[in-house]
Amino acid sequence: EKGGFDHFMLKEIFEQPRSIKDTFRGRLSADLNDIHLGGLYSVLPRLVEAKRIILIGCGTSWHAALLGEYLIEELARIPVEVEYASEFRYRNPVIYPDDVVIAISQSGETADTLAAIKLAKSRGAMVLGICNVVGSSIPRETHAGVYTHAGPEIGVASTKAFTAQVTVLTMIAILLGKHRKTVTNELATTLINELGSIPAKIERILESNSKIEAIARLFKDSTNFLYLGRGYFFPVALEGALKLKEISYIHAEGYPAAEMKHGPIALIDDKMPVVVIAAKDSSYDKVVSNIQEVKARKGIVIAIVSEGDTTIKGMADYTIEIPEVHETMEGLLAVVPLQLLSYHIALMRGCNVDQPRNLAKSVTVE
Ligand code: F6R
Repeated sequence: EKGGFDHFMLKEIFEQPRSIKDTFRGRLSADLNDIHLGGLYSVLPRLVEAKRIILIGCGTSWHAALLGEYLIEELARIPVEVEYASEFRYRNPVIYPDDVVIAISQSGETADTLAAIKLAKSRGAMVLGICNVVGSSIPRETHAGVYTHAGPEIGVASTKAFTAQVTVLTMIAILLGKHRKTVTNELATTLINELGSIPAKIERILESNSKIEAIARLFKDSTNFLYLGRGYFFPVALEGALKLKEISYIHAEGYPAAEMKHGPIALIDDKMPVVVIAAKDSSYDKVVSNIQEVKARKGIVIAIVSEGDTTIKGMADYTIEIPEVHETMEGLLAVVPLQLLSYHIALMRGCNVDQPRNLAKSVTVE
């Protein structure tokens, strides 16, 4: 059942080229100029006209929501807010009838997310779902939605469900951008092509598994980790830190790289591994300066870089390469080495990777 892998988590990390393909299969048009999301047909006019989109979720699904905010605002120019379902449901939020709420959940059973959906519906908003488990409670409670076709995720730490959620959010952002004319036909073709290239690019990243394992060996006894990223890499930094915390029990924090100097920089010394997601994008030069700041304080830098990068290779202590892709999709690639890093560290520490202590696969109590 683990398909030759030692753990479900590793199997699910390696499944991502296929699970992402399954998630976009039949949804990208053959001429690479359109996106088809059957689950949204009936609600598309209202979605396209939404004054605001509110994305809600918990944990890893909330990290996918943050990426969704950046994607939808960039491509469709609709204001997006991201909220933890648990906060949204209890703080009497402002919800207008022309808001669209999109709930993101792998299991479709998370109690706080379900309650947030009911609240939004009671205030007249249209509520959509992005879920993995077919027929679960959230798809039944929402007006419409899109399934991620990641297949069953058994490992408690979410991996392939996350990349499938981000794949769906990317497709929604392109679809909305096309309808709102904020994405030209030419850009749509580029983006759809790039999305289609993701599975093969993840295959390439997976080839670095033993290199990542060797890096993991060096840091398995660390007590703290910092993860830094800007733009699309900020949610990825949060997700990398969460993966490490939940399965290896090492304290880790994710930060927007520029926030470092507002506090966390005080933590940096020669024992602090700092994972910096520094692949080529529009904030590349800024993140290079952030790496210099970490090195000036003798921090140990593990950098995720674009293939062929030489600038950061000369500065960082360790680098892991990822292929280049359109900036809006870089998060889909950058998260994969971080999943592998936490998997190997947890394994070397003797942790139960698939069933970490105190955690359940679906959180049906608030
Ligand atoms: C992290 C993890 C949790 C879930 C969260 C939401 O690896 O598994 O943080 O992401 O409990 O679960 P779903 O997506 O099922 O609503």
